[in-house]
Amino acid sequence: MDLKNKEYIDKIRSLAKEKNAVIFAHYYTRPEIQECADFIGDSLALAQQATRVDADILVMCGVHFMGETMKILCPQKKVLIPDMKAGCSLADSCKAEDLNELIKNEKLKIKNSDACQELIVVSYVNTSAEVKALTDVVVTSSNAKKIVDQLPKDAKIIFGPDHNLGSYINSVTGRNMILWNGACHVHSRFSLEALLELKAANPGVEVLAHPECKAPILAQSDVIGSTKALLEHTIRSSAKRFIIATESGILFEMQRACPDKEFIPVPPEVTEGVGCSCNECEYMRMNTLEKLYNCLLNESPEMHVDKEIAEKAISSIQRMLEMS
Ligand code: 13P
Ligand code: SF4
Repeated sequence: MDLKNKEYIDKIRSLAKEKNAVIFAHYYTRPEIQECADFIGDSLALAQQATRVDADILVMCGVHFMGETMKILCPQKKVLIPDMKAGCSLADSCKAEDLNELIKNEKLKIKNSDACQELIVVSYVNTSAEVKALTDVVVTSSNAKKIVDQLPKDAKIIFGPDHNLGSYINSVTGRNMILWNGACHVHSRFSLEALLELKAANPGVEVLAHPECKAPILAQSDVIGSTKALLEHTIRSSAKRFIIATESGILFEMQRACPDKEFIPVPPEVTEGVGCSCNECEYMRMNTLEKLYNCLLNESPEMHVDKEIAEKAISSIQRMLEMS
């Protein structure tokens, strides 16, 4: 079927109504997916909203771990995801068996030191269900500082997998968490040189960055926050122009919310012959209207999470929701 966006959106909306389905989309998805969704949000808002809606089917247009989190939180509901191959380089940078090894080593160090120290594992939501099952509390970029601030001051904390976010949280909480060495390939490739040029060409314009960006980018930023926090800042601020260092999908919602403002995206470093030279997450872009339509029509692909893993993982996600 070769339909235009508008026709697809109309068909998807009537199918969703017929099937009592709710469509969720992350801010990084294609504009037409955001236009079609019932609910758009950052990782935290999507997880919170999933537990509140009264629907038989939840469709998560985002990446795999977002669908997984939704299924863990709503095991009785059918959770669909338009493309099961929509992964996340950050989640992939932390395998459960490797994290388990680190946890065992750190527990042994505590035991050998005779210290009666508590070990707390904090994982970013961008992780697999298996990693969440090894985790004490999950965080997102919206609530990481607030949650780490509530943890006992004398506890030893392992934070993973995003090293940039972990360093930033260490700096704003005064903690010395043990950091996993993972990164998001999109956020770690923003060009400092290009950002400095943009700042020089646009004096006084605020720079807004996601905390998954590298420290030199964050050091040049005026506002550091989750996608939702950055969006809310652009709505609240009296400024008319902003330089944005995060995945460019967010520009759609920023522009929709503030039609009279200008958003200037920071470009990535250009690495000849390697990967994508844009600031888009190719996994998020795998969500297309055609796949969304087919997924709703066929009620497939459906997200399943191993029962035992889900039972272990849910407490770390629920702890996050309680502490947010
Ligand atoms: P948010 O938690 O800000 O939605 O970010 C999720 C993500 O994947 C960032 O790359
Ligand atoms: Fe994962 Fe990065 Fe894509 Fe976010 S932008 S989903 S962290 S790969």
